[in-house]
Amino acid sequence: MRIAITGATGVLGQEAVEALVAAGHEVTGITRRDSGVPIIEGRGASAIVADVFDQADLARAFRGHDVVMNTLAHVPVGMAGLRPLAWREDDRLHLEASVAIAKAAAEAGARRLVQESSIFMYPDNGTDWIGEDLPLSVRNQAFRPRVREMRAAVDFATAGRTAVVLRLGQLFGRDQHTTHALRATRAGDPILLGRPDGYITLLHHSDAGTAFVAALRAGSGFYNVGGEPITRGRWAKDLGTEAGASGPAKFYPEITQALVGTRLDTQRRSLRVSSLRFMSETGWRPTVGPSTKGWSRR
Ligand SMILES: NC(=O)c1ccc[n+]([C@@H]2O[C@H](COP(=O)([O-])OP(=O)(O)OC[C@H]3O[C@@H](n4cnc5c(N)ncnc54)[C@H](OP(=O)(O)O)[C@@H]3O)[C@@H](O)[C@H]2O)c1
Repeated sequence: MRIAITGATGVLGQEAVEALVAAGHEVTGITRRDSGVPIIEGRGASAIVADVFDQADLARAFRGHDVVMNTLAHVPVGMAGLRPLAWREDDRLHLEASVAIAKAAAEAGARRLVQESSIFMYPDNGTDWIGEDLPLSVRNQAFRPRVREMRAAVDFATAGRTAVVLRLGQLFGRDQHTTHALRATRAGDPILLGRPDGYITLLHHSDAGTAFVAALRAGSGFYNVGGEPITRGRWAKDLGTEAGASGPAKFYPEITQALVGTRLDTQRRSLRVSSLRFMSETGWRPTVGPSTKGWSRR
C-alpha cells in the first residue's frame, strides 16, 4: 500500500516508518524541515516537506496515497510538563494539525486514517481492567485538543472510509523520557508519579512501530495498544535493573504529587489497560516488555 505518515522524524514516526517499509509498503514521510529528509530516507521511505497546519499543502503531499498515518506529538520531558506553556505545541498539534491532516486525507482521496492517541484519557480504574468502552475522563479543558482530534478521525470515517484510533500505552525505549527516567534512577532522584500498587501499561517503541502496520488490518474504531499491565512498583524495579542502579526507581513524595496539576496528574492514574480488542482483530502482539533485558538499547 502507499502510505503517507506525519511526525515521521519523531520517535514514534521513525519506528512506524521502519516497520511499514519492512512489511513491504511504499512509505512517504512528511517533515516541515529539509533536515528531516535524510532521517526519513535513512529509514527506507521517501520524504516530502510540508506544513502540517496547512490543509492544502497536506492534500498535495497526501495525493496518490491509500493511507494517512498521523504520529505527531511534542510531549514535554519529565517535570518540564509542569510549566504552563510546556504543552502549547503538543496542544496545537492535536487541536489544529490533526484536524487539518484528517481533512486533507479525505480531500486527497485516502481511504484509511490511522491516528495516534493515548491511554491517558481513561480515568483511574484501580485494579480493574480498562477496555475501549470505559468512558474517558476528559472534561477538563486540557483534554480538548485530544477530543477534537478524535472527532476529526470519526468525521473521516464516513463515506466508506476507515479511521483507526490507536490509544497507545506509555512509550518506553530509547526516547528522551525514558532516558531521563533512567538517569534519575541512577542518580537516586525521584522520578515516578502515582502509587506503587497502581497499574501502568507500557508500550515499547518497536512494538508501537509494528502496531501501525497491524492497524492496516483493523476496522474503524478505537483500540488500546500496550503490553501486559504491571504495577508501578514493578516498573520501579524494572527501571532500577535496566539503569544498573543500586535500587528501584523512586516515587515523588505525596506532597509533590499533590501539586502536579491536570496534565501530569494523568501519570498518577492506575491504568490497567487491555489490548485484547486490537490483538484479536489484527494478530498484533507486543514483543518487548519492561523485564526484557536491554530494552533501553533496542
Ligand atoms: N503514548 C506515549 O507515551 C507517547 C506518545 C507520543 C510521544 N511520546 C514521547 O514523547 C517524546 C517525544 O516524542 P517524539 O520524539 O515523537 O516527538 P517530537 O520529536 O517532539 O515530535 C515528533 C515529530 O513531530 C513533528 N513536530 C513536533 N513539533 C512540531 C511542531 N510544533 N510543528 C510541526 N511539527 C512538529 C516533528 O517533525 P518535523 O520536525 O520533521 O517536522 C517531530 O519529529 C518521546 O520521548 C516519546 O516517547 C510518548
